[in-house]
Amino acid sequence: MIVTTKDLFKHAYGKYALGAYNINNLEQTMGLFQGNMQSKAPFMIQISRGARDYTDKRMLEAMIRTADEIWPDALFAVHLDHGDEATAMDCIESGFYSSVMIDASHEPFEKNIEITRKIVDAAHAKGVVVEAELGQLGGVEEDISVDEDKAHLTDPNQAVEFVEKSGCDSLACAIGTSHGAYKFTGGQGLHFEVIEEIQKRLPGFPLVMHGSSSVPQDEVARINAAGGSLKGAKGVDASQFKKAAELGVTKINIDTDGRLVWCRVHREHFRDVPENFDLRKPGKVFMAEYAKYIMGKNDLLGSTGRLDSVRKTLKT
Ligand code: G3H
Ligand code: 13P
Ligand code: ZN
Repeated sequence: MIVTTKDLFKHAYGKYALGAYNINNLEQTMGLFQGNMQSKAPFMIQISRGARDYTDKRMLEAMIRTADEIWPDALFAVHLDHGDEATAMDCIESGFYSSVMIDASHEPFEKNIEITRKIVDAAHAKGVVVEAELGQLGGVEEDISVDEDKAHLTDPNQAVEFVEKSGCDSLACAIGTSHGAYKFTGGQGLHFEVIEEIQKRLPGFPLVMHGSSSVPQDEVARINAAGGSLKGAKGVDASQFKKAAELGVTKINIDTDGRLVWCRVHREHFRDVPENFDLRKPGKVFMAEYAKYIMGKNDLLGSTGRLDSVRKTLKT
């Protein structure tokens, strides 16, 4: 069942983080639902502008509605990832999305507030909640490239003013992560003190961590052994997720890791079975492997086994 992001956040806040997983196609959608159902975990489905361009927004919605019929016990929210103004407005108007992200983090502070406020007003009028971003991650976000050394962390004092003036419902904070498979050249460099300071100033307010794929090293090694070339790929230490959750991080965004599972499965399949040309063979393996990956991730997020308790709170 599609539920509100607000309800999921309320249940998770301070206890665990919801996995927010991106989908682009049928196999990802199937693996995602299978994994979360086996975990008995609530989750967030994220749709990016890139995903809406890759297929068609109606195809993505239809897949989600159908998955909802196949797995009626699932509890999840549907979220626009890194929306611009036009896409956020479109999603709000559609009535399908539980929440939208407006990402104006590349704009000056006041302009970011102004754009976010506009989306918040439109969203709240339709019962949709809004995630905004303050500070900038490194790496590549949609079409905006930010050099790692230029990325700046969220300023906790600015965060308070931003939340008050923009009216946003959750805040994506830059604490040293970046999007993609190449997050760190050296150590982890995660700035939990930033999160801690923001939580002190905004107690009870849900925070979001982007760029949180862990880029498993065994996955990278298998991809490279099967003909890939991912040199120096490195991700976030997922053992930090529970600590982040206790500090108010309620949603943790993961996309790249799913792509790595896809890449490994297909590279190994075509290396090992060169005579095959049936897409269903690696597709089937991918769905099972992705489901397994999701289950492991939910354990680290602390969302495993929470489904029944969420269901109870929805009834009250
Ligand atoms: O933050 C970006 C997400 O991983 C979505 O990626 O824009 O390539 O779909 P995408
Ligand atoms: P990763 O690239 O680390 O998976 O981050 C995804 C993300 O932040 C989507 O918004
Ligand atoms: Zn992101």
